Formats: sequence, C-alpha cells, structure tokens
Amino acid sequence: MASKTVSYDFTGRTLFLTGAAGGIPGAIAKLFAASGANLFLTDLHPESLAALAGEIGNGVPLATHPLDVSDPDAVSRAAAACRDRFGQIDFVVTGAGLYEDGTVEGMADDVWQRGISVNLDGVFHAVRACLPHMPDGGAVVNIASMAGHRGSFGHAPYAAAKGAVLALTRSLAQEVASRGIRCNAISPGLIDTPMVRGLMQERGGDMLKMTPLGRLGTPEDVAGVAAFLCSESAAFLTAESIHVNGGLYIAS
Ligand SMILES: NC(=O)c1ccc[n+]([C@@H]2O[C@H](COP(=O)([O-])OP(=O)(O)OC[C@H]3O[C@@H](n4cnc5c(N)ncnc54)[C@H](O)[C@@H]3O)[C@@H](O)[C@H]2O)c1
Repeated sequence: MASKTVSYDFTGRTLFLTGAAGGIPGAIAKLFAASGANLFLTDLHPESLAALAGEIGNGVPLATHPLDVSDPDAVSRAAAACRDRFGQIDFVVTGAGLYEDGTVEGMADDVWQRGISVNLDGVFHAVRACLPHMPDGGAVVNIASMAGHRGSFGHAPYAAAKGAVLALTRSLAQEVASRGIRCNAISPGLIDTPMVRGLMQERGGDMLKMTPLGRLGTPEDVAGVAAFLCSESAAFLTAESIHVNGGLYIAS
C-alpha cells in the first residue's frame, strides 16, 4: 500500500530547504506548501527550481534561490535573503545530496572532497547560516541515509558524510535545545528518486525482495516524516534519527 500524506498547520512559518529540486526535497516542499508554510527553495539548478515552483503553483508564499551548499558564503547570503523575504526561518531541512560511484582504492581526492563538501559541509553551512535567523521553537531536519549507519559499497564519501551528519545532528541538538530548537535526522533507505536509479537497475530487485513492506519508498514517505519532525507532534523529540526504509535496514 502506498503512503498517504497528512498535512500540518505551518501557516506563517518558513521553511529553508536545500536540494529542493530533488525527488525527496521536492515532495517536502509540496507537503509544506499544502501545510501553509512559506517556502524558500534552494538548489544548484535554477531551471529545476522554477519547474518545482510552477508545480506548487500560485498562492503559496515562495521564493527560489540558486545555491551551491558547498559554498559557505553563498549559503550565508541565501539564509539572509530568506530572512529578508519572510522575516525569520522556522524550519531548516537539508536535502541537498550527491551520490557518486567509486571504490576507495584509487579514489581521486576530488571525488572524496566533493562527497564530503556537499553531503556534510553543506549541512553544516546551512544550519550555521540559518540558526541566527531562527526563533525559539524552530526545527532542523537533516536528511541523512541508511548508508550513514551501515556504510555503502562503492559510495564511501557519501556514507562517511552521512554518518557524520548523524553525529552533527546529535551535537547540534544539544547546543540549541536551550532555545527550544529541535534537531533531528531522517535516514531513508531505498527511495525511488533519480539519485538511486543506477543502484535500482543493478540491485533494485534484490533489495525489494529484502524489504519486509514489499515496495520501494516514495519521496512522500520521507516528506511525511520531515513534516512530523517539524510539527508540535514531535515537541519532545530531538537528537534522533528516524529510519524510513520499509524494514530493509533490519531485515537485510
Ligand atoms: N533516494 C534515496 O534512496 C535516498 C536514500 C537515502 C538518503 N537520501 C538523501 O535524500 C536527499 C535527497 O535525495 P533524492 O533522493 O531526492 O535525490 P535527488 O538527486 O533527486 O536530489 C538531490 C538534490 O540535491 C541537489 N544538489 C546536489 N548537489 C548540490 C549542491 N552542491 N548544492 C545544492 N544542491 C545540490 C541536486 O540538484 C538535487 O536536486 C539527499 O540528501 C540524499 O542523500 C536519498
């Protein structure tokens, strides 16, 4: 059975989202739009951002902002632009991610560095830049990965960065708790988006067989958890990582 999304009341609250044009972040943008949030959508690709804005449609308070999360100054300018447009940043969701193939032996330095700079540094840049603009009671949701818990054959920089994102999340959660800001991570398993089409062609059938719930994850499965984590329903939830994988993590 596919997922059904539940919307929340985020009226007047502002989401700062990275990697917004991606499969999972795009679903997060749409769910937060349906929940009344103001959207500040950032991604490397302006044309994909424009397409997403078109899908979300008029009537939603929305800004798009081309952004490379590995550039700290650009991320600071984006956070300031979000504050200027909407007054404050209530929710930060770090969705930008890069999943490049390659084994460690013989890996070029730039492949390693790129994986770390987008998947780890990019998260640090985003939360550091947004925090000064966040009121008490905001929420940070970092999109990590099952790979950050288990490692990933042929994707060491990605897995190493995602594991570090989990530790960053737990550290940050302690630092901002006195402001009532909660900080959690989501660790998706195999979710049907462009990022994992190669992996799905190679091993998708086997992975599906190993998944107790018997289907691939959808971006909406992850979006629902992101919205929950930002909502008052998760008011006593911080420094956690929520797995979204249909049971694959425990069964395989
Ligand atoms: N799809 C999965 O199975 C899966 C599993 C675990 C974790 N995730 C994580 O979910 C998040 C979203 O991934 P997705 O599956 O929707 O993939 P996706 O490839 O559709 O989306 C990733 C987005 O990040 C953007 N991006 C890449 N480099 C960037 C940079 N330097 N600056 C800004 N934006 C950049 C891309 O343009 C793209 O829009 C990622 O963090 C990914 O690691 C995905």
